[in-house]
Amino acid sequence: MFWKLQENILEKEDIEGLVDFIRSTERFTQFEKVRQFEELWCAWQGCRFSVFVNSGSSANLVITNLMKQLYGWRDGDEVVVPVVTWITNITPIIQCGLTPVFVDVNLKDYSFDYEELEKKITDRTRAVFVTHLVGFPADIPRIKNILGNRDIKLVEDCCESHGAMQDGVKVGNLGSCSSFSFYWGHHMTTVEGGMICTDNEDIYKLATLKRSHGLVRELPVHYHDTHKAAHPDVDFQFLFLTDGFNVRNTELHAVLGISQVKHLDHYIVVRNRNYAAFMEILAPYSEHFFLPFSEGVSSFSLPFVFRNEKTKELFQKSIGQAEIESRPIISGNILRQPFLRKYANPADFPNGEILHQNGFYIGNNQFVDEKRLNKLAELLREFFLDGPD
Ligand SMILES: Cc1ncc(COP(=O)(O)O)c(C=O)c1O
Repeated sequence: MFWKLQENILEKEDIEGLVDFIRSTERFTQFEKVRQFEELWCAWQGCRFSVFVNSGSSANLVITNLMKQLYGWRDGDEVVVPVVTWITNITPIIQCGLTPVFVDVNLKDYSFDYEELEKKITDRTRAVFVTHLVGFPADIPRIKNILGNRDIKLVEDCCESHGAMQDGVKVGNLGSCSSFSFYWGHHMTTVEGGMICTDNEDIYKLATLKRSHGLVRELPVHYHDTHKAAHPDVDFQFLFLTDGFNVRNTELHAVLGISQVKHLDHYIVVRNRNYAAFMEILAPYSEHFFLPFSEGVSSFSLPFVFRNEKTKELFQKSIGQAEIESRPIISGNILRQPFLRKYANPADFPNGEILHQNGFYIGNNQFVDEKRLNKLAELLREFFLDGPD
């Protein structure tokens, strides 16, 4: 394959560090390395608290579950989501007994159609769950303006947007809390892994408890005495303060995170350099595309959104023949997924349909080089010179 969607971004030093760690430790389950990675992540992200979990999906599940509990949301209360996002932004809402309310996307930053968002807010809306899609920062100031001073929480999914910026602030620091993924192929990787970030101590405490069965001993030591004193009849080692999950990660994955986060700024620079070159390559054919507005981007992948579905099909076929791997833009219009059909008619979300039918993306990472980009430019040139329409 000439240009794969995802490649192994683990470096020799990351792997050697892991091997050394395995040889030298007797503790593989969550411990000091996890804490160390969380501290490094707080420093990189610029937030007070970080909770390392085993995936971005687990981060979304814990966040949704804890927010419902913390803020006393009732079954059936509404969480607003975009029609183009990853499936585990929607499923936790359903699994937690809440109702997802779908809003169309826009074709500039791929987040909400902001006018429609305003219309979908009701007196049962408890949260807006933003996705910063493929590295584009959503317009959070505009969303906050729409929410005004209503008691509606803002949650950010940054699983594809590590380091994307909104007015000089990293996304993930703009709402109540946020999720990140370190899955293979994301901006940095722990192979599997995710992070919950927040500046709110109550959210942090509940996330820490719920990550690990609800066990109090998992909280930092300075919280222990109060809980010990309040429940003298239960052995502190097995004192459960709330219901929870087990979505912990391991020391092994944390060792990779500690090593990878050191490369992250560089990876983002390279990804954004590739993205800028990609936009230049598309520029001569701009009338064929919906081109995104990419200020503050931290590029996850290189998206094509064609104005014409047939042109998209033909071009996707031609890059496939050139061994360039492509995928739908996340899941396309997620309402087309069989189990979500009952919530709304996908056809009522025209921009979601455009991303679904006319869009796809190809990979971006530090292995995307001039050779690949030149090949892409050549393919586009040939394609449009031959006149696809
Ligand atoms: C926007 C978004 N949210 C959540 C996730 C889930 O992350 P994970 O694969 O770590 O579970 C992904 C995965 O790629 C994603 O793209």
